[in-house]
Amino acid sequence: MIAIQEKSLALQVRPDFPILHQQIQESPLVYLDSAATSQKPTAVLEALQAYYEQDNANVHRGVHTLSSRATDAYEGARDKVAAFVNAASRQEIVYTRNASEGINLVAYSWGMNNLKAGDEVILTVMEHHSNLIPWQWVAQKTGAVLKFVELDEDQAFDLEQFKTLVNDRTKLVSVVHVSNTLGCVNPVEEIVAIAHQYNAKVLIDACQSVPHMPIDVQKMDCDWLVASGHKMCAPTGIGFLYGKLDLLRSMPPFLGGGEMIADVFLDHATYADLPHKFEAGTPAIGEAVGLGAAVDYLSQIGMDKIHAYEAELTAYLFKRLREIPEVQIYGPQPNTDGTGRAALAAFTAGDVHPHDLSTLLDQAGVAIRAGHHCTQPLHRHLKVPSTARASLYFYNTRTEIDTFITSLKEAVEFFGSIFG
Ligand code: ALA
Repeated sequence: MIAIQEKSLALQVRPDFPILHQQIQESPLVYLDSAATSQKPTAVLEALQAYYEQDNANVHRGVHTLSSRATDAYEGARDKVAAFVNAASRQEIVYTRNASEGINLVAYSWGMNNLKAGDEVILTVMEHHSNLIPWQWVAQKTGAVLKFVELDEDQAFDLEQFKTLVNDRTKLVSVVHVSNTLGCVNPVEEIVAIAHQYNAKVLIDACQSVPHMPIDVQKMDCDWLVASGHKMCAPTGIGFLYGKLDLLRSMPPFLGGGEMIADVFLDHATYADLPHKFEAGTPAIGEAVGLGAAVDYLSQIGMDKIHAYEAELTAYLFKRLREIPEVQIYGPQPNTDGTGRAALAAFTAGDVHPHDLSTLLDQAGVAIRAGHHCTQPLHRHLKVPSTARASLYFYNTRTEIDTFITSLKEAVEFFGSIFG
C-alpha cells in the first residue's frame, strides 16, 4: 500500500522538478533540505518565464494592455492564495517578501502602536528568530514583557504551561504552527481559543505548515498568519500575511511610498484600501505570479494527499534513523502511522559535529542542513550548540531515505573510527 502510494505521488511528481535529476559528487542528488527551501516545479518556472516573455509591466499604474495583463496576473495570484488558506476575503491577503517581513509588518504596525508597558506577549522557546527579534524590539520600545512557553516531556508545545502564562495582561500570542527544528505540530486552534478568552490577538507562523498540510484560517480563527512562498514551491522574494479584515483595516501602513496611497499632498496623505495599503513600491510581480502557479500546482496534487504521503515518509524516516544507536532525534516521536509531527528530523550523532556530518553526506550527494536552523534559543534550551537536520517534501522517496541512512551510518562509523 505504501509502495503504491509512493509510486502514485513522489515518483509521479519527480519529473516535474528538473533540479532533482542531477549528480552531486558523482552520486544522484538526494535533496533533504526542503524546510530551508523547497525545489520548484516546471509549472512555476514556466509561469515566471511566460510572465516575463509576454506580460511584464508595472501593476495598477498603466491602462495599456501589458499593464492590465500584469495586474490581472498579480491580483489573480492573490485570489489563489486567499482560496488556498480559505481567507474570507482577498483583501485579507497582503503580499510580503517572506514570512519575516509579514511578522515585522505586524510588529511595527500593530505592536508598536497597541502595546504598552506591562502588556504581555507570549512566544515559545522554539520560535524561529523571525518570530522573536521583532518582538524583542517591540518590547524594548514599548515596555511590553515577553513570556515563553517551554517544552513538555515530549519536547513539544507545553499546553499546560501556556494555560498558566495567559492572563488579562496578555495582548498577543505569537507562535509557530510547525517547528522547523522539533517538527512538532502545535495545537493552534486550542491556543487561539484560549488566547481569545482573554481578548489577546494570535499570530501564527505557518512557514512549515502551509506547504505541507491543508490550512483553513477561518477554522483556525487566528488573527494573523504568515508564510513564505519559497518553502511551498514558489520563488524566493514572495510570501504573504493573512489578517482579519477589520484588524488589518485598523492598522496603520508599515512602509510608505507608491502603491499604498489614495491622495497625496505635500504635508499629508490618505491611504489605499486593503491590501494595497501594506504594499508600498513596485511589488514582486513575477514572484507573485510564481506563487499563484505554485498554489495551482499544490492544489492540483491535493494538500490532503501531500500530508498523507509525508506522514508515510516520516514513519519510514524515523524507523530507519532508530537503527543508528548514536543518533538522538529532537522533538516528539511520530505516531506509528507517521502522523503527529512534520516530515523532518533534527538530530545529533554522538560527538560528531553536525557540519562534519553534512559535509561527509554531501560527498554522497545527500543534502542536509547543519547548524542552529535560526533557532538559537531552542538549541540553548536543548543544550546542544547545533544539530543536523533532514527535511522532506512530497518529491522525496523511501529510496532516498535509504541512501541518506546508508551515508549517515558510514559517516558515523568513519568519525567513530577516528575519534572513538
Ligand atoms: N528557516 C529556514 C530553515 O528552517 C531557513 O532552515
